[in-house]
Amino acid sequence: MAKSLAPRSQPYQLAAAPGRRPLLGHVLPLWRRPLEFLESLSVLGDLVKIHIGSCPAYMVCHPELVQRVLVNAQAFDKGGPYYDTARTLAGNGISTCGWEDHRRQRPLVMPVFQKQRITAYTRTMAQEIADVTAAWPSGRAFDITAAAHSLTVHITAKALFSGHLGASAVDTVDKCLPVVVKGLYPRMLTPVKSVYKIPTPGNRHFDRSLSKLHQSIDEVIAAYRVTGTDHSDALSALLDHHDEKTGDRLNDAEVHDEVLGILVGAVETTPALLAWTFYLLSEYPEAAARVREEAKSLLAGKPAEPDHIAHLKYTRRVLTEALRMYPPVWIVSRVTTTDVELAGKILPPGTAVMWSPYILHRNPRLFPEPERFDPDRWLPGASPAPPRNAMIPFGGGSHRCPGETFGLNEATLVLATVTRLWKLHAASGAILRPLAKMTLSPGRIPMVKLPITQP
Ligand code: HEM
Repeated sequence: MAKSLAPRSQPYQLAAAPGRRPLLGHVLPLWRRPLEFLESLSVLGDLVKIHIGSCPAYMVCHPELVQRVLVNAQAFDKGGPYYDTARTLAGNGISTCGWEDHRRQRPLVMPVFQKQRITAYTRTMAQEIADVTAAWPSGRAFDITAAAHSLTVHITAKALFSGHLGASAVDTVDKCLPVVVKGLYPRMLTPVKSVYKIPTPGNRHFDRSLSKLHQSIDEVIAAYRVTGTDHSDALSALLDHHDEKTGDRLNDAEVHDEVLGILVGAVETTPALLAWTFYLLSEYPEAAARVREEAKSLLAGKPAEPDHIAHLKYTRRVLTEALRMYPPVWIVSRVTTTDVELAGKILPPGTAVMWSPYILHRNPRLFPEPERFDPDRWLPGASPAPPRNAMIPFGGGSHRCPGETFGLNEATLVLATVTRLWKLHAASGAILRPLAKMTLSPGRIPMVKLPITQP
């Protein structure tokens, strides 16, 4: 029987990870087998010291300690070389900026995610989902991860620039964003930035795609400014909103950075969730049958629409359980800006602090039988109730994901639309190779789509 976590009256356990190498610290296991390495840390203690190169860093493994970090965004800020590179390439939007800028910018961005706007985007996505999933090949293997990615890029770009002025921008986003997102992660992690200045075909492709993306976003912003029309999309919300009291608003360069940040935030996470969920459903046919029954009885032969979402309760539990087992954002980092106490230890300014939703969600002391896919652990009143603050796929505090409803609406509509009409199963010989990079993705999963009337 697993030991329970230290109640708050007991001191938190501090530990240091074994296996530190001279100069490298723990870089090798963190790079080569990150998930296993992180899981090994959570067994050691609640706050575990590791080394990245010669710099100490702390892995926070207790949910209450993670909450303390999340709610103190001033002392645990976004910073360090990782965020410096992200800002240089993707701008100073709310996903990358530091505390001071975030305090000003986040309220100016939040209208993008207002309830009425989300309802409007959800209507756009429902139609898109029906069209695109119908075009997924039938009867032969296709990569579900790539298909979910391309669907999400398209949906997000349309929600951002729904107006006709944005049609070519949607196309540019479709082509260039995947290249940029793929190239960002190694550029953020690699200390030797000069390798990315060498004019290799890969570097040139990245640079071209990034500059096309920047240019396209600038063009759409300029075009929206000229017409001044509210297109009921995210870009209109960013351009129109101002602080009622102070009149403060985002300038065009800031709107540009927020657009890019929202795109990057959206297009890696939801597709990973979808791909993992389709994989899990192919492994657990009873759960797939329940999702199908729910969609069939609720939709009564019609396509899934925004109003159905609240009633697709089992489908939502399936997605929640997939987010527990395979949280797309699997690791998060901050840097201390002042002397700050955590678990009884004073961390000096400049200390890297990290936590992993993946290891919290898979800690058997928090979630019994964590390897078991059990959507009903999320039934209201289920026993044992999942512990407070242990489930954090969307983060928390002032950086909590503003796109949660957008992403979950999209994933719910995709599942209902697909499972009502087709069965997806992993192609024979398909091997799962989880990739823990910018997000936790299942990698390429060949799946076959068959109409449900077929045996
Ligand atoms: C399943 C889908 C998603 C997951 C699991 C997810 C997860 C997260 C997490 C964990 C954070 C906080 C990161 C941190 O604390 O450093 C975050 C932030 C963010 N997400 Fe999401 N996200 C998802 C979908 C989306 C979508 C669809 C959008 C946009 C349409 C979006 C936009 C953002 C933005 C702009 C931030 C930065 C917020 C801030 O720092 O104030 N996300 N997301």
